[in-house]
Amino acid sequence: MSNPPPFPSSPPPAKARSMQKRVFIKSYGCQMNVYDAGRMADALAADDYAEIDRMEGADLIILNTCNIREKAADKVYSELGRIRDMKLEMGEAGLNVKVAVAGCVAQAEGAEIMRRSPMVDLVIGPQAYHRLPGLIKTNAKTIDTEFPLEDKFNHLPMASVAKTRARGASAFLTIQEGCDKFCTFCVVPYTRGAEVSRSVERIVAEAEQLALGGVREITLLGQNVNAWHGLGDNGVNWTLGQLLRRVAKIEGIDRLRYSTSHPTDMDAELIAVHRDLPEVMPSLHLPVQSGSDRILKAMNRKHTSAEYLEHIRQAREARPDIAVTSDFIVGFPGETDQDFEDTMQLVRTVGFASAYSFKYSERPGTPAADLETQVPEEIKSTRLAVLQALIQEQQTAFNRACIGRVVDVLFEKPGRNEGQIMGKSPYLQAVNIQGPLSWIGQIKAIKITGIASNSLAGEAIAPHFQKGDSAFKTEAL
Ligand code: 5AD
Ligand code: SF4
Repeated sequence: MSNPPPFPSSPPPAKARSMQKRVFIKSYGCQMNVYDAGRMADALAADDYAEIDRMEGADLIILNTCNIREKAADKVYSELGRIRDMKLEMGEAGLNVKVAVAGCVAQAEGAEIMRRSPMVDLVIGPQAYHRLPGLIKTNAKTIDTEFPLEDKFNHLPMASVAKTRARGASAFLTIQEGCDKFCTFCVVPYTRGAEVSRSVERIVAEAEQLALGGVREITLLGQNVNAWHGLGDNGVNWTLGQLLRRVAKIEGIDRLRYSTSHPTDMDAELIAVHRDLPEVMPSLHLPVQSGSDRILKAMNRKHTSAEYLEHIRQAREARPDIAVTSDFIVGFPGETDQDFEDTMQLVRTVGFASAYSFKYSERPGTPAADLETQVPEEIKSTRLAVLQALIQEQQTAFNRACIGRVVDVLFEKPGRNEGQIMGKSPYLQAVNIQGPLSWIGQIKAIKITGIASNSLAGEAIAPHFQKGDSAFKTEAL
């Protein structure tokens, strides 16, 4: 038996510290990748990897990729070019930097990545992340893009603020993955696989961990988050609305969000929680993609524009101030001027708080890529500019309507300018104020005083702060 160290409280000897390896994870694309990056970092932490926030000095570089549009995938190959140069340089200095490609490009391209970039050590698809630590240890080049039978979530560490990744007051929690909808433009059903819901027990346990670590806001994530379903702890089958009710009961969780929903999975229970629970934030991200029923049908969206509008009407009835956001694709194959005008009309009818819009991008292997009615690039560009101008107008109007109002802001980080802190309003707008760093992690009542291009400016009103939208508790400034 070895002797105990003479000074237990002293730092570890330099040799032990230098054994620690460093991992840099660069995530592209959606929020689910951000969540996955956290899980990968946590899994590697058990093997003594510390996460760092830059590529230089890393022993392991992971590109956590996105394949949703062509441009997103192209970025990965150009980044791999840069990494190759760095890896060569480090190799000359006697250091072996390992490179892994994860995420949806890994899943979709597999061996092609190693063919184009032979210096890549590991290609790993999103369903195999629990195998990452083991695969990193082997020195053989590996491609793991299987859809294993075991559920990776049961083998990965849970999200927890106590772990390696510094997480703030707001955290993501994946509750559902994959998609069975097969929209004809989309690669997700092929890269993320079939819809799988995590159990209530695991979700609640993970949310409790986050709350214990100081997280105040949780965004439940899923490619089709409102398709989530599971057996509730009362023995009854639950949908997302019931799950939100359960998570809202957790001490310390003041705000809940969920993303991304599909119109055909909206149900009365989900709408009702917007009316009943102050913890459920008044924001709804509900992608519609197009306002033309003809195009919606060709996209295999399984809903009409009228059905979409009805969901929005019900959501507004439940929560009149709800901020509705969406995703749009312009230039889907066969889209005519009239189809595009139908999209513009839907946007005028709804009045969005903001929205993402994209030019249709052909994805190999998806049904729409084979259509012969592809829309010329210039037409896509013109339509995108016209749509984005209208959305920007609506976003500005929505933000302007907040001026003079008092809203709860959850502060997340220092702002860009000296003395500023930045947080989010219930409607997911970024709000900057002059305020102390000690407010980070707290919810304060803020009076909105002005708008900038993509954010709001405000000032604290003392001394009354609140949870939700009703008087909650009083704190000293
Ligand atoms: N081309 C353009 N946009 C796409 N999206 C998904 N697939 C494509 C594609 N092939 C958009 C959709 C989706 C968002 C995440 O990305 O609007 O809601
Ligand atoms: Fe893709 Fe459609 Fe599934 Fe969304 S619902 S992930 S757009 S296939």
